[in-house]
Amino acid sequence: MHSKDRSSLTFKLGYAIRHPGRIAGYIRRHARDAWLRMHTTDHVSYYRAVMRSDAARSREGAVGSHTHESWLELGKLQFDYATSHGLKPEMRMLEIGCGNLRAGRLFIDYLEPGNYYGMDISPDILLGAQDVVAEHGLAAKLPHLTLVKDLKLAFLPDEAFDWAGIADDVTDRVAEVLALVDRCCDVLLDVEYRTVCRMLLARIASRAPEVFRRKGRVETAAAGVVWIAGKANYLFDGKSGVRAMDIAKFFAVTSSPSARGTVMLRAGGFPGGGFDERLGSPVYLVAARRRRIIERRDALRQRIASAE
Ligand SMILES: C[S@@+](CC[C@H](N)C(=O)[O-])C[C@H]1O[C@@H](n2cnc3c(N)ncnc32)[C@H](O)[C@@H]1O
Repeated sequence: MHSKDRSSLTFKLGYAIRHPGRIAGYIRRHARDAWLRMHTTDHVSYYRAVMRSDAARSREGAVGSHTHESWLELGKLQFDYATSHGLKPEMRMLEIGCGNLRAGRLFIDYLEPGNYYGMDISPDILLGAQDVVAEHGLAAKLPHLTLVKDLKLAFLPDEAFDWAGIADDVTDRVAEVLALVDRCCDVLLDVEYRTVCRMLLARIASRAPEVFRRKGRVETAAAGVVWIAGKANYLFDGKSGVRAMDIAKFFAVTSSPSARGTVMLRAGGFPGGGFDERLGSPVYLVAARRRRIIERRDALRQRIASAE
C-alpha cells in the first residue's frame, strides 16, 4: 500500500505518533461525524450538518485551514495560479464549492463587478461568505453567491454563446449561423459539441468579422464551424458514424465544409489549418477526444518505461 494513502491504518498510526496533540480532536470529530450520520437521512444533509458544525467552530477550519495565516495563504495561492494562467478582470468566473471565499474574496476584488459566481452546497458556509464580502468591502462588486441543492447542478445552463467583442453589423448574420449550428448539434451530435461550436463561432466572429460580412450562404458558414469542431475532435475517423459529408448534407451545401472551415480556421487565428486539426487549446476538445489523448500519452509512457 502506498505510504501516502491517508485512509490506511499505517498512515493514521504514523500520523498519530508524529502529532500526538491532534489525537483528541480526531476522536472528537469521528464521534461527532458518527452522531451526525445517525441523525441525517442522506449524504447531502449529513454533509451540510458537518459543515454547519465546522463553520460554527471556526471560519478557517471549515474550509480546511488550521490558522488564519494558512487561510490567507491558500486563498492567495489559488488566486495567483488563476491570474498567472490567464484570468482577466473582464472574464466571468464560476467557483463550485466557493466555501467562505478564502480565494473568492480575491477573485471578487479582481474581477469586474458581477463577474464572480460562487456556489456551495452548505448554507452555513455561504452565510460565512456573506460576512467575508461585507468585512472586505466587496459588496459593490456584486458577487453572485448561490446555494446548490444537490450534487447534480442540473439547474445550470449549457455554455451560452458569448457575444462579447462581436461587431454590431455582423450580429444578425452570426445569430443566423449560431441557430443553424445549434440545430445541427442537437440533431446530429450532442450538447458537448454544441458548446464547442459556440465557442469556435464566438472566437471567429469576434476576431474576424469580415468572414460574416462577405456575401455567401449562412449554411456554408455553419457547416464550416461544425466541420472544425468535428475535425479537431476526430469525429470523422470512422468510429463515430458521422462523416464530413453528413454535415454538408444536413446544411444542404454542395461544397465540402472543409473549404470554408479552413478559411475560418485561419481567420480565427487558430494554429492549425487545412488538414492540421490543432486549435491551440483543450477547451475545444470534447471528453472523448481528451480521453484518447490521455490514453495515447499513457501508452507512450509505458513504451518508454519498458524500453528503459
Ligand atoms: C475545502 S472547501 C474549499 C472552499 C474554497 N474553494 C476555498 O478554496 O476556500 C470545499 C467547499 O466545497 C463545498 N462543496 C463540497 N461539495 C460540493 C458540491 N457538490 N457542490 C457545491 N459545493 C460543494 C463545501 O461545502 C466547502 O465549502
